Amino acid sequence: METLLKKIKEGKTFLLVPEYKNKKGPGEKKAGFYNPAMKMNRDVSILIVQWLVNASNKPVKILDGLAASGARGVRIANEVEGDFFVTINDWNKKAFNLIIKNTNGLDNTEAVCKNVNCLLHEKKFHYIDIDPFGTPIPYIDAAVKNVTHNGVLAVTATDTATLCGVYPKTCIRRYSAMPLHSWVKHEVGLRILIGYICRESAKYDKGIDVLLSHSTDHYMRVYIRLRKGAKEADESLKKVKKVDATDFTYENKKTMIGPLWTEKLHNKEVLKKLKVIMQGKTLGKKRNVEKLLTRAEEETDLPIFFYTTDVISSQLKVSPPKLSHVLEMLKKLGFKAGRTQFGDASFKTDATKKEVYQVFKKTTSY
Ligand SMILES: C[S@@+](CC[C@H](N)C(=O)[O-])C[C@H]1O[C@@H](n2cnc3c(N)ncnc32)[C@H](O)[C@@H]1O
Repeated sequence: METLLKKIKEGKTFLLVPEYKNKKGPGEKKAGFYNPAMKMNRDVSILIVQWLVNASNKPVKILDGLAASGARGVRIANEVEGDFFVTINDWNKKAFNLIIKNTNGLDNTEAVCKNVNCLLHEKKFHYIDIDPFGTPIPYIDAAVKNVTHNGVLAVTATDTATLCGVYPKTCIRRYSAMPLHSWVKHEVGLRILIGYICRESAKYDKGIDVLLSHSTDHYMRVYIRLRKGAKEADESLKKVKKVDATDFTYENKKTMIGPLWTEKLHNKEVLKKLKVIMQGKTLGKKRNVEKLLTRAEEETDLPIFFYTTDVISSQLKVSPPKLSHVLEMLKKLGFKAGRTQFGDASFKTDATKKEVYQVFKKTTSY
């Protein structure tokens, strides 16, 4: 039976997508599947690809490897300016037919119907997008191997329950890392994902530069530039470690987690350029993207992990102070402090937990 299609607009692009009801969340595994909850995810990739095309002096080869309706690849083809070509691939025949319909009239795309891992071993790309249902694990090896020197790998993970420590044994099996199910779970998960990609890249003598990484709604997303060189790989590997997360557990119990990425979650220079690029773009979720980039800039140079006003207040049995007061006090005392992408009540600081407790006692005693 023919799937009914409807025309929608995302960013500046019109797309044909299957007509069925879908709520915010991981959704269903339907052929030609289109998930409006991933609009912001696709928005950010438009900015990153534009940045990559701007920075390149030769035609940029782009792969939307797990494309479903082709929404991302088609948007890139239509909304990014410059010299590039997009290969839009899905191994599902129905999805492939939909990609053909959605690329009709675009001369900078090709539709392909292959197993993405086979395609990756046939051809190298400057930008590879891996956006699966669930875990990206089955695609990382071929992707890191076949992205060009200085190319970008974009990866979505929706196995957030695993990365966030609901299923620690699954996380150990999949990512060879111990997660943490506490208020920092999303940052821990994001860092486990980056750490995994770093280790997989090192096998092929490649080092990583994390351009931007975020945890939004039900997914995690990372944009990583890969650089060829055994030295680069060694340097990156040094940043993947087991860490003591005792201060970030509810029980203050000695807890070692990881190995995970312990360095910056973003590249500040790239963030600045993305902000400028964003001004000229029509995005589906511009406000959310703007907020993410602002928070990312604020948190880049701050230490690993964070506290929340709610958690610290409940541990001290005081009512939560305003975050702005806490940040002001910490900065006055000479500490680094700032907001993070991981929640409106969350903050990062280089103060110890004891010092944070003292600040809370002072702010709440007014
Ligand atoms: C979550 S959807 C992709 C969503 C899409 N990127 C978007 O932004 O709308 C995942 C897609 O991957 C396809 N897929 C799964 N395994 C694959 C493989 N090994 N090779 C190619 N496509 C695959 C599925 O058919 C499905 O359409």
